[in-house]
Amino acid sequence: MQAFRTVQFVALGCLTFGSRGFRARKKSFNPTALDIDLTGKHYIVTGGTSGLGFVTAQQIAERGGTVHIVCRNGAKGETARSQIVAQSGNDRVQIHVCDISSLAQVRRFADEWRRSGLGIAALVNNAGILVNERRVSEDGFELSFATNTLGTFALTEMLLPVLEKSKDARVITVSSGGMLTEGLEVDDFDGKGLSNAKGIDGSKQYARSKRHQVAMTEHWAEKYKDKGIFWGSMHPGWAKTPGVESSIPEFYNALKGQFRSAEEGADTIVYMAVAEEVLSLPSGEFFFDRQVVPKHLCAAGTRYSGTKRERLLESLEGILKEKGFALDGQ
Ligand SMILES: NC(=O)c1ccc[n+]([C@@H]2O[C@H](COP(=O)([O-])OP(=O)(O)OC[C@H]3O[C@@H](n4cnc5c(N)ncnc54)[C@H](OP(=O)(O)O)[C@@H]3O)[C@@H](O)[C@H]2O)c1
Repeated sequence: MQAFRTVQFVALGCLTFGSRGFRARKKSFNPTALDIDLTGKHYIVTGGTSGLGFVTAQQIAERGGTVHIVCRNGAKGETARSQIVAQSGNDRVQIHVCDISSLAQVRRFADEWRRSGLGIAALVNNAGILVNERRVSEDGFELSFATNTLGTFALTEMLLPVLEKSKDARVITVSSGGMLTEGLEVDDFDGKGLSNAKGIDGSKQYARSKRHQVAMTEHWAEKYKDKGIFWGSMHPGWAKTPGVESSIPEFYNALKGQFRSAEEGADTIVYMAVAEEVLSLPSGEFFFDRQVVPKHLCAAGTRYSGTKRERLLESLEGILKEKGFALDGQ
């Protein structure tokens, strides 16, 4: 079954995830969807120091928005901030140092934001990693789970009281097409079942966390459907970024001729974060190149029940409650 999924994934990827696929679909994009003045609106972009997050922050700044880059490395954040200000001419770019894999830092950032009284036009959950060896977060969780799944979940839940008070808020979670190769894992967050000579099969653990993000987005859209928030997960395609080049060098080197640029990869993130027309699209869906696309490959055995999804969410909530988080905006 795994080989069947991989073959389908690579075939789909070669046809659509690269630059050629983007350019083909771009012909049907609304050419004015991003012609919008974002002055006065606040956007949070996690992982805005590099790759897709950097481009997203830059594109929002170019449209006048106030951008809040959440980064784990203050010096990199400052460099990104200076570049974006210089290129956009917009000095409303702020950095917030917060390691998303650290529950204490996520809580501190969210508490500070809540106290600031600022609204949120969009929270872009972009920070993400693929680690090819076993590493653990300061809370003791496997690092890609801690970053992509748990930290993203904690940040979003902690900001919910602000999101629901903000008009037409959006939460865009940058998942990955790689999640198509995995089902919903609810029992082995640590990836113990993926042990290999390096400690863990990092690509599989990454794909599982990216599947978690898709399931979390479905859950939020259902649970908070009356709160006036647009929820969407997305796949950026195969985009040339520092993260891809360093985390999957063999895959990148084999296919780099097909890769899209970071700007092409970030296009749908920016679209989902700012375009007016997005608010009339269904919430809780998975997007690629400005369209809702299927969350499963054909006959791949990755579908899951609502009950299983709720088990994931109960486990994540359980971890946060154990760490003393107050959820549901309490
Ligand atoms: N590029 C692709 O082809 C592709 C395909 C599918 C999905 N994605 C997803 O797109 C997102 C962006 O990836 P990218 O390709 O742009 O990679 P990237 O160049 O490595 O950028 C990732 C960003 O996330 C930040 N980050 C990582 N861990 C963090 C943490 N614990 N706390 C705060 N920030 C953290 C990084 O910060 P540092 O600068 O400090 O490392 C960096 O700014 C990821 O979620 C990735 O899974 C990318």
